[in-house]
Amino acid sequence: MLDLEVAGRILAQAQYVAALTGAGISAESGIPTFRGAGGLWQNYRPEELATPQAFARDPGLVWEWYAWRQELVAKAEPNAGHRALVDLERLTTLTLVTQNVDGLHARAGSTDPIELHGSLWRVRCTECEAERTIDEPVGGLPTCAECGALERPGVVWFGESLPEEPFELAIDAVSRAQVVLVVGTSGIVQPAASLVEIARSKGATVIEVNPEASPGGRNRIALVGRAGEVLPELVKRAT
Ligand code: OAD
Repeated sequence: MLDLEVAGRILAQAQYVAALTGAGISAESGIPTFRGAGGLWQNYRPEELATPQAFARDPGLVWEWYAWRQELVAKAEPNAGHRALVDLERLTTLTLVTQNVDGLHARAGSTDPIELHGSLWRVRCTECEAERTIDEPVGGLPTCAECGALERPGVVWFGESLPEEPFELAIDAVSRAQVVLVVGTSGIVQPAASLVEIARSKGATVIEVNPEASPGGRNRIALVGRAGEVLPELVKRAT
């Protein structure tokens, strides 16, 4: 794999690296992706489960779906792809940005991953906005200890803005990075996807890891394969 060798060499030379991950990096941990075969959005409609309107209409149904996802993630383990990014942190300065809400990067040992879309393990009051972290799946309809109002999942839904601070940190990271690793994302959900364009406009080399081939091009290397297989090989070559 010539591309892997080249990518490994470029990674080895970079002083500052950013990684942007999506659902694909957790696929080998048994967590379904959103799009593609077996993806969550093939079986569920986002507008019924992942919008503020859906929650207002039927909070019980939305919480049931999130509790199911929490159960799934609680039983899952980080995989070799997550662990390779922990290893990469030891080789270079790395900022890890994820669209995932499963918390598997942190469980693998990554330091302070930036969670653009929130976390399955946070809940927020719909009235006073008090947030808390949870460590097991929610049962029923959780309520706020401060004010008694209904709590909602601490994730970003369709139609909502990303939390400002994580997004600013992510923009800063991809603007400064010499290499941006883009792993397991379809790259179609904005504004997360725009981070790759920002990186390219600043002259970073983009290394993509995905079983679906994407067009290569200038300053862009596509490593076609599963994250759990490709990332450890890539990091080995950057050592
Ligand atoms: P998607 O489900 O859109 O895309 C998953 C990507 O992972 C696809 O490009 C797959 O080819 C790739 N993939 C599958 N298995 C893989 C593997 N083993 N290794 C590497 N890649 C693999 O997921 P995201 O791009 O993360 O947003 O989706 C972005 C956002 O859309 C999510 O954060 C979520 C969703 O709606 C919100 O909930 C706000």
